[in-house]
Amino acid sequence: MNERLSRRKLLNIGIFGFGTIAGTVVGIPIISYLLSPLLNPAKNAWRDVGAIDDFKVGDTVEVTLEEPSPLPWAGATAQTSAWLRRTGDRDFTAFAVNCTHLGCPVNWLQEAELFLCPCHGGIYDANGDVAGGPPPRALWQHQTRVVNGRVQVLTRGLQVA
Ligand code: FES
Repeated sequence: MNERLSRRKLLNIGIFGFGTIAGTVVGIPIISYLLSPLLNPAKNAWRDVGAIDDFKVGDTVEVTLEEPSPLPWAGATAQTSAWLRRTGDRDFTAFAVNCTHLGCPVNWLQEAELFLCPCHGGIYDANGDVAGGPPPRALWQHQTRVVNGRVQVLTRGLQVA
C-alpha cells in the first residue's frame, strides 16, 4: 500500500513538473509577444498628409496617418487620423483624433465649431479645450511642419489623460 502511494506521489510530481516546464516554454514567448509594444515603443515619425495648397485656411479636415509600429504585420491597425486645420499661409494645427477621456475618436462639426466624442458626450471647443462632458483635459496636438510645399504631421501614439 505504501509503495503504491509513493508511486502515485512520484507520478503526480512528474506530471506537475512536466506541466510547469511546458507552461513556461509556451508562456514566455506569448507574454513577450504581448508586452513587446510596451517594452519596445516605436519612435514617432513625420508623415506626409498632402500638399500645402490641398488645405484651405480656416478649414479643419481629417487626415490619415500611419503610426510607426514595432509590429511589421500591424496592417490596418497602424492607421490612425488627426484633425488638421490650416491657420495661416504656412501654419497648421493638428488635433489628435482620440478623446482624452478613454480614447474614442472625436468628430469635428464645422457648423458648431466643436469636436464631439460619441462615446460619453465629451465636447471640445474649436481650440480643442474641454467644453463639456467627462474629458479631463484638452485634445492632444500633433506637431506639424511644412517641407518642400508638403504638410507633415508627427505621429504621437494613443494617449489619453
Ligand atoms: Fe470621449 Fe468618454 S471617450 S467622452
